[in-house]
Amino acid sequence: MAAHPEALLTVDEIEAVATLLRDAGKVGDDTTFRRVSPAHLTAETGGVDGGRLIEAWLYHAEAREIEELMVSLTSGEIVSSATVTGQIPQYGFGEILAMQELVRTDPDVAAAVAKRGITDPSKLQVDPWPTGNMGLEHEEGRRVSRAVLFWRDDAADNGYAKPVDGLSVFVDLDEMSVYRIDDIGDWPIAADTNNYTHGTVPDRTDLKEISITQPEGSSFTVEDGNHIRWGSWDVRVVMDHTEGIALQSLGWTGSDGARRPVMRRASVAEMVVPYGETRETQAFKNALDIGEIGLGRTANSLALGCDCLGDITYLDSAWCFDDGTPIQVDQAICIHEEDFGILWKHTDSHVGSAEVRRSRRLVISSIFTVGNYDYGIFWYLYLDGTIQLEIKLTGIVTTQAHRPGDSLRYAALIGEEIAGPIHQHLFCARFDMEVDGPNNTAYRVDIEVDDPGPDNPFDNAFRAVATRLESEQQAIDVVDASKARTWRVVNESAENPLGQPTGYKLLPADTATLFPHRARVAGRAGFAKQNLWVTPSNGAERFPAGDHVTQSEPLDQGLPTWTKADRSIAEEDIVVWHVFGLTHSVRPEDFPVMPTEYARCTWVPFGFFDRNPALDIPPGTACH
Ligand code: CO
Repeated sequence: MAAHPEALLTVDEIEAVATLLRDAGKVGDDTTFRRVSPAHLTAETGGVDGGRLIEAWLYHAEAREIEELMVSLTSGEIVSSATVTGQIPQYGFGEILAMQELVRTDPDVAAAVAKRGITDPSKLQVDPWPTGNMGLEHEEGRRVSRAVLFWRDDAADNGYAKPVDGLSVFVDLDEMSVYRIDDIGDWPIAADTNNYTHGTVPDRTDLKEISITQPEGSSFTVEDGNHIRWGSWDVRVVMDHTEGIALQSLGWTGSDGARRPVMRRASVAEMVVPYGETRETQAFKNALDIGEIGLGRTANSLALGCDCLGDITYLDSAWCFDDGTPIQVDQAICIHEEDFGILWKHTDSHVGSAEVRRSRRLVISSIFTVGNYDYGIFWYLYLDGTIQLEIKLTGIVTTQAHRPGDSLRYAALIGEEIAGPIHQHLFCARFDMEVDGPNNTAYRVDIEVDDPGPDNPFDNAFRAVATRLESEQQAIDVVDASKARTWRVVNESAENPLGQPTGYKLLPADTATLFPHRARVAGRAGFAKQNLWVTPSNGAERFPAGDHVTQSEPLDQGLPTWTKADRSIAEEDIVVWHVFGLTHSVRPEDFPVMPTEYARCTWVPFGFFDRNPALDIPPGTACH
């Protein structure tokens, strides 16, 4: 029997899909697998009634075609296929491994690094970097990865402490050749090792252990593989090949037993990391880590290390290697509860008593490592109906070599011979809304100060002004702290007992938009020029910079193009896209490994309930 349509993908299913495609003659000698992932549940895929559907994207190298297939494991058939030409597929990890070996053994690379005193190129750390789309003539018609080089004298060293700067190494992935090396100058290899691993720095000894004990276990259950129930919430957690961890079918069941949907799907659909440094070896960097790399392939096995405390439930994930081999990631998704301070409190001074309830949240999270950076995607559900997305950014900043006299206009010194270029991390969260049903309407809510007049005799008046967003163009906007701007998504045909439409409010992150807005990256990641977009739900519109963002051919795909149609979004099945993140002007404390920075956005119920839904939380028993 096929798995539930919203189940986590398994190695057995990947094998079944690969076998089915091979038997159907879809896999030639030149064919590799690029995205194998459970279908997103949309109206187009039939929702939960559509059976177990798996998307498979194949790359046929000789024809230079991407074939997008939908496979039903319920019927054992290919249910749809489409061929894409003129676009570049996501890199395969197999070809990346081959490319790294190629660069370490290439004679031209050996000659270039020898000028920098490196006599053993087998000790090079080769970081594959998407070349983006800089409009370079020599990249036209090629599938290109750049090789960014670092030096590890010892295999366990921190390579990012010793960039091999001044070289742009271009690899043609179809030919599997280093076809071009640009050498703009030989910076010396930095002397400091800047290691950070345990044992390289003495431990402090004044910290007592914090241990979290949950003697009765945790308050959530996981059924059917990935169906989580906790408090009034229930949700399916999935691991998408491209987006990594995502939530599906999020709903709240009230005390009357009626289940109320809130979101059909919530995910981080794309991100862009533009760099502001103008040095040729840095300026090309504008990673779209989700579309270019596929976060699902980079999920950490949380069996390594100690990421969460308490009573933890882990779920495994699986992804498909280039050749169709399934790879299981043990313990890729972490589910646990966290105490979260005070949920609500009041001290009644008149009678000298206090009522206080403890907040807790359900944490559903995964960690993704993309080269130097590590991204935690944390979904939080709270007892008062709040839904929060938090990105934890850690790992190691991109580094460049620094010698006396180099400009530090676009980079900051973070070591004696090393600098960190300024950059941004802009995430595009995609919320397929379903507040009390599929048809929702979005409002922009600004606080306005009224002019003095008969209604405002003391000139103190300010009020929330909600503007109904009728069409896509009208909805496009940026955050505005001067207006305390928020957005609200309501169901105009559902009322709470006070007679108000039920809804949820987006508390946006206060995020600047894409700074290099005239650069080529703005054509690759136009979504990041705004903080908010609303579109009608469409199964073909899932990735805001396009489905195939590697080398972004053509430019201007995704949200900026879709929304030109200015479709109606009122009383429709809508998707809210929120762009948020960080602008990272690097500081010395970010090196050699970065203390976690946080970027988050929050949905709170707004008239979804008729009063605080967390009055029924009992007082804690562990008070002293
Ligand atoms: Co950063």
